[in-house]
Order: sequence, then structure tokens, then C-alpha cells
Amino acid sequence: MPRTVAPYPLTRLRRTRKMSALRGLVRENALEAHDLIWPVFVQEGENKSTPIVSMPGVNRLSIDLLVQSASEAYDLGIGVICLFPYIEQDLKTEDCAGAWASDNLINRAIRALKQALPDLAIMTDVALDPYNINGHDGFVVNGEIVNDLTVEALVKMAVAQAEAGADIIGPSDMMDGRIGAIRRALEVDGHSNVTIMSYSAKYASSFYGPFRDAVGASGALTGDKKTYQMDPANAEEAMRLIERDLTEGADMVMVKPGMPYLDICRQARDTFGVPTFAYQVSGEYAMISAAAENGWIDRKSTILESLMCFKRAGCSGILTYFAPEVAKLLKSSD
Ligand code: PBG
Repeated sequence: MPRTVAPYPLTRLRRTRKMSALRGLVRENALEAHDLIWPVFVQEGENKSTPIVSMPGVNRLSIDLLVQSASEAYDLGIGVICLFPYIEQDLKTEDCAGAWASDNLINRAIRALKQALPDLAIMTDVALDPYNINGHDGFVVNGEIVNDLTVEALVKMAVAQAEAGADIIGPSDMMDGRIGAIRRALEVDGHSNVTIMSYSAKYASSFYGPFRDAVGASGALTGDKKTYQMDPANAEEAMRLIERDLTEGADMVMVKPGMPYLDICRQARDTFGVPTFAYQVSGEYAMISAAAENGWIDRKSTILESLMCFKRAGCSGILTYFAPEVAKLLKSSD
């Protein structure tokens, strides 16, 4: 006898959501402290911590305090920190020579960190903007951001960072050909084990505003960065950039900003199957912080959700200013 079909769904996807244990069993992705890279702003001085107004909770740190904070972060399970320098206005120049000085702020910070915490991996940023009197990532000649001359400077900068002990070189400048040029120079200079995480798909984004305050580049920047950073309208171009950087020797690639660009992360991961990272940038930090401070969203759960979504989108890890806070949260929920 044929039976009438029950008027109930046989497939009930809610069954596995019934209780925490079952939700845990079917969970597809995990967020762990070792997925996080902590970007930190470094400044001159001693015992000096300066709040960044547009990034509440984030401070620029002198090297001694940086070592202390890095040590705490390392104990919480964070394996990588990424350094950005705050350069005083009167030290910014047109020739950007400070960028590759072996004893510049960043290189001194790397040496201090390596001495205190040899197992913490140090990532650096390669771009001229903190040192440049006009705030651009490359040299400006007759109003144009020139490519090849800039690449020569970036190579010197990257080699100086590797010499100081950097483990991951992060070119964020978006000049053409810089990955290959840096890779070759690192090989020639005996740094064949230093890795490169290329800011391959870096967009000309309004979400970088607070960062430019943090490194003191806001006032300095003349014009915008649209002749070298990507148009937010483009995805295919991002794939071409990633492919190019991988061909030139990048070990890992990055998409930046993060949250509005999860489609690019997914596409990159599916297309190339290489370690893919996202940068949850300063403006994203500022938005979440500001909404939470107003009581409009729940700070902890929003942060955790935002980071889990990067994992779901195929990212191996995330650069985030929330890193130490998140590592603490993850530890307490063990
Ligand atoms: C500089 C650089 C920027 C960021 C990282 N490296 C700013 C820019 O391109 O103007 C932004 C990071 C952030 O907003 O958190 N090359």
C-alpha cells in the first residue's frame, strides 16, 4: 500500500543545531590564536605608550613596551606580529632614506624582539609611506608615483629588515615587479629562508583612514593612492595580481581590506590553493570598536564572528588589531 507522504520535512537541518555539543560536532571551521597576526605601531622613546584616537584601545609603543606586549601576546598563543613605524613629521624626507637605514626604528625593534623572543615570528611592512614627506608608498617624480625607482628602494628596505632578523617580509606598496626583485635580492644576500607575504590584492580603500593617523601619514598624504592600489570594483584583476606575485616568488598572499572583500579571499583560495591571508584593517577595527562603545553591538561576539568569517572564506589567517584580545577570549573559552 503506498503511504501518503507525511506533511513534515524528513531533512531537518535544525537537528544538528539542537545543542552545543552537536553544533561543535558539525562545525566546519575553527578560529585559533595561531591564526592571528598582530599589527603593532612602534614609536621612539622609552616607556612610552600613546593612544591612537581613531583606534580606541590601540597604542603606539616604544620598543621596550613593544617587547613586553609581544611577550604577553606570545604567551597567549600569538605566533606572529607585524611592525609599523610612527615616524615624526620632521624626519620624513623626499628620498625616504630612513626606510632602509639598518638602525632605523623598525630594524631596532626587530633586533630587540628577536633577542627577547626568538620564537616569535616578525613580519614587516615594505612601503615608503611612513618615511615619505608626501605620504605615498613610492617616490613621487613630477607628480607621478614612479615604479622602478621605488622597487630599487623597496629592495634595500626589505634586505635591511631581513638582516635585522625579520621572518616575513610584507610588501604593501603595490608597485609592479617588487616581489621578484625582493626575492632575488634576499636569495643573493643569504636570506633564502626569509618568507614573503605579498599584499597582492590591496585595494585603494577608505578603510585605511585610522591607520594613516596611527603612522602619522594622514596630514602628509597628497592626493590618493588610486594609481597603484586596486579599484574596489575589480576581482579578476586581483586574481591576476596574485598569480603574478606567486610566479615571482611570494610564499603567501594577502587580501586587504578584509570584511568587504571576503569574495576575493574565497576566490583566491579556490583558484590558487595557497596560504591566503586577510587584513582586517584599521577602519574595520574602528567601526566595530565605535559601535560596541555605543552599546550598539556586542564587542566580543562581533569580533569573534568577524574573524571566524575569514576562516570560512578560505583564509589561513588574519591580521587584526584585535589579536591579543581575541587570544585572551579563546583561552578563557577553552
Ligand atoms: C602602507 C600601509 C597601509 C596599511 C598597511 N600598510 C596604508 C595605506 O596603504 O595607505 C593600512 C592598514 C590599516 O588600515 O590597518 N603601505
